Amino acid sequence: MAARYIELLRKALLNETCLEAEVAYFYARSCATGDKEFEASLAYDVRATLRDLYEQVAEARRIGRHLDRDLRKVGFSATMIGRRRMENLESCITDVVDHDVPGDLIECGVWRGGATIFMRGVLEALDEHDRLVWVADSFAGLPAPSRRRREANLSADKFPQLAVDIATVKANFARFDLLDERVRFLEGWFKDTLPSAPIESLSVLRLDGDYYDSTLDPLNSLYDKVSVGGYVVIDDYSLIPSCRAAVDKFRKRRGIRTPLEPVDADCVFWKKSADGS
Ligand SMILES: C[S@@+](CC[C@H](N)C(=O)[O-])C[C@H]1O[C@@H](n2cnc3c(N)ncnc32)[C@H](O)[C@@H]1O
Repeated sequence: MAARYIELLRKALLNETCLEAEVAYFYARSCATGDKEFEASLAYDVRATLRDLYEQVAEARRIGRHLDRDLRKVGFSATMIGRRRMENLESCITDVVDHDVPGDLIECGVWRGGATIFMRGVLEALDEHDRLVWVADSFAGLPAPSRRRREANLSADKFPQLAVDIATVKANFARFDLLDERVRFLEGWFKDTLPSAPIESLSVLRLDGDYYDSTLDPLNSLYDKVSVGGYVVIDDYSLIPSCRAAVDKFRKRRGIRTPLEPVDADCVFWKKSADGS
């Protein structure tokens, strides 16, 4: 039952249970922008009538990319990390629970909250009641990009869909009956909230802030709290050069030689070893 609950939760958070609604929405949207002419009969059974679009949306969800790699097409899922990264997250949590690796779980950069809702749900399914889930975000979108690092402008002015307020994220937790005292919110820029966050230790540190500082600030503040045997997961290491640069710099400075393991085309992780690396 636990495995079935986890899989159903994952499907629901990825909106795989109702991809048809997204397909119908994307279809209606392309009609509204004049790319296509609306035919009502097509929208009734999009899985059959808009088969190619359905497959594109399903594949984008599997690999954790937006449809057409277009940030305006974020769709309806509660997380943008995709199925493969959700599976990786489950295996990290299961491993630390099975091996009694102490510590809470955190994601820095949560958007609609789906990955952290999943963390809380997996802990519940595994009857693991002592660990907290920390939910860290500005809840106002990304900060200004660094020009020196040629970061794309992903700020709320340009992409309001990336700025999800804390009330919405809490409502998303509540929708899955997973909003309780074991979920803690850290609202604000990572550089302000993380250094003084009352976190004792971590078993899973998941970073998804995209930018250089949004990756390096959490590593500087939290890496020493990660227990031996715990996991560090970097969502966009292979996709975003400045995210990669921050991780490489941190690992070099700290002498971390444990190889990075790929999750999918974008995401990597490593497991903290006993010699601190
Ligand atoms: C790519 S989204 C995260 C996606 C999320 N992990 C998911 O499961 O869908 C990036 C998030 O990081 C947050 N963020 C980026 N840099 C930040 C910073 N320096 N401080 C606080 N939040 C930040 C943004 O507000 C946004 O919600």
